[in-house]
Amino acid sequence: MRTQVGIVGAGPAGLLLSHLLHLEGIESVVIEARSRAEIESTIRAGVLEQGTVDLLVEVGVGERMRREGAVHRGINLRFSGETHRIDLHELTGGKAITVYAQHEVIKDLVAARIATGGALLFEVSEVTLHDVETRTPRIRFRHEGGQREIACDFIAGCDGFHGVCRSAIPQDRRTDYQHVYPFGWFGILAEAPRSTEELIYTRHERGFALVSTRSPELQRLYFQCDPRDDEDRWSDERIWEEFRARLEGKDGFRLAEGPIVQKGIVAMRSFVIDPMRHGRLFLAGDAAHIVPPTGAKGMNLAVADVRVLSRALAVFFTSGRTDLLDRYSSTCLRRVWLAERFSRWMTAMTHLDETSDAFSNRLQLAELEYVTSSRAAAVSLAENYVGLPMA
Ligand code: DHB
Repeated sequence: MRTQVGIVGAGPAGLLLSHLLHLEGIESVVIEARSRAEIESTIRAGVLEQGTVDLLVEVGVGERMRREGAVHRGINLRFSGETHRIDLHELTGGKAITVYAQHEVIKDLVAARIATGGALLFEVSEVTLHDVETRTPRIRFRHEGGQREIACDFIAGCDGFHGVCRSAIPQDRRTDYQHVYPFGWFGILAEAPRSTEELIYTRHERGFALVSTRSPELQRLYFQCDPRDDEDRWSDERIWEEFRARLEGKDGFRLAEGPIVQKGIVAMRSFVIDPMRHGRLFLAGDAAHIVPPTGAKGMNLAVADVRVLSRALAVFFTSGRTDLLDRYSSTCLRRVWLAERFSRWMTAMTHLDETSDAFSNRLQLAELEYVTSSRAAAVSLAENYVGLPMA
């Protein structure tokens, strides 16, 4: 098989890249280890920045998102038993976020690729990359019982943090930056009415909690937990008890509860590889960087990466110019580090770190006090939350 761009991974990065390249008249093949049913049903985050929404609409895959997604013009920070609203819309000159699940974005992108004859191969295994330092890199893998090979001009490594592509960059040609947090998030999906119109990020003595949503009937909530905990040790009643303890307070706020239809624990880390490119291999999305989930930057960064990459590849294929490809890593990393900063700040401001002393805990409250009382601080939160301007 031969194509212009071989894409490893059918997550938001790989699928959107394939779609953007198609719009530029560039051929690609996407290979994915999981099945289509699995990628279309795995529950992940659900907050889209304004720039992500605008891009999806601009490239023709935003129709269902516009219909079914919920536009939120503010978020809430809750601490010391009180809720404080951050008016994203007013503080950013009219921007907002859209709550629309990542797997819905995936469904829309898969449908768009299939409608235009895109090559998507699911359930591939034993993926290996070859000759990435040459002009003719190749991807080898197994599919439907046979050994396959894609010869291409470029490889896009969009196979996530645990994927194989990153390891094709030699250790002595890269720097990995990493921070692992001593806590995780326990996430649930519950069949319940909304408890709140807008997301609530809570700092509580028992730890962080977040009230998000998916639809008027389905809610997404998280609480900070031990990353080594086992979700099966948590009954529905115990889960709701924990949420009530962290969220309900003297101001009368009450959670709407209902059957829990999905639960799981995610570990939290910050990770960045520099550079995001080696020869003709370009990493995008979680393959190159991870943010802790606080602030919901993960999928938005993946979208920003492939926007830069698709433009650089389009310029290369029309003119042979390599300057945008040469700047791909530094262009992306500028945004990545700003998102790393913001995600870590949001995490540090709202999560309980058991190793922190009483002084640090009071500083955490002062940070929340400042961001909810100073317009300058609130603008800073808001412009990062809705997403900094795209490169
Ligand atoms: C959601 C996830 C996040 O990480 C976040 O900061 C806000 C919302 C969500 O899944 O809805």
